[in-house]
Amino acid sequence: MGTVTDSNKGSRTAAQVAASGSRRVIVGITGASGSIYGQRMVQVLLRLGLEVHLVATPAAVSTWGFELNEPLAADRLAQDDERPRLIIHPTDDLFASIASGSYRTCGMVVIPCSVKTLAAIAQGFSDNLLTRAADVCLKERRPLVLVLRETPLSLVHLENMARAVRAGAVVLPASPGFYDHPKTIDDLVDFIVGRALDHLIDGHGIGPRWTGTEGEGSWHAC
Ligand SMILES: Cc1cc2nc3c(=O)[nH]c(=O)nc-3n(C[C@H](O)[C@H](O)[C@H](O)COP(=O)(O)O)c2cc1C
Repeated sequence: MGTVTDSNKGSRTAAQVAASGSRRVIVGITGASGSIYGQRMVQVLLRLGLEVHLVATPAAVSTWGFELNEPLAADRLAQDDERPRLIIHPTDDLFASIASGSYRTCGMVVIPCSVKTLAAIAQGFSDNLLTRAADVCLKERRPLVLVLRETPLSLVHLENMARAVRAGAVVLPASPGFYDHPKTIDDLVDFIVGRALDHLIDGHGIGPRWTGTEGEGSWHAC
């Protein structure tokens, strides 16, 4: 078992770190367009060595297959050595670990997040594991990032966004910037994935970061 050094607490085993929840992230995926954002998020978190708890709605599975031309499956998301750190929960399993606040995590990202799931989270309507896990993050005051994908937005959507923000969520629309001169779809995806990761973990290195207009360049890798 490897060890992780924490400057404040000395050396802890990987199992202790996992038990504290500091290396666990919940990823929720819905049926909104933008499955590629969820795919990249899971792959990045695994490559960074985190434990990923994935919950995808039935609509997510359909949209994923349609947009990415492949099934939403563990062996497509994780390398062999990463597979033990990818826990995929059935959406209807309300007995799962992440349904309880006593199971510690460092937060959750819903990416992409549909306006339907936004509505459920904003209203505390926890009828599946994704919305229940999000509700747990809000009640436990853990980070909850909703990478919303819809356009245009109705007043219903806007009011649900405001309600979610008041409850403690970060609403982060899947609306990448263009001031870093992206060249590829992957650049656009990493812009959003990086901004969402900023609310969950440090030192991820994903996406560009603005450093001001002084000097030679205004952008650098994280
Ligand atoms: C191809 C496709 C794209 C969709 N894109 C969006 C979208 O961008 N945003 C959204 O809120 N819903 C979108 N939907 C509709 C959702 O999938 C639908 O409202 C679904 O019930 C959401 O359920 P869920 O939140 O449980 O995943 C899309 C559906 C399809 C089939």
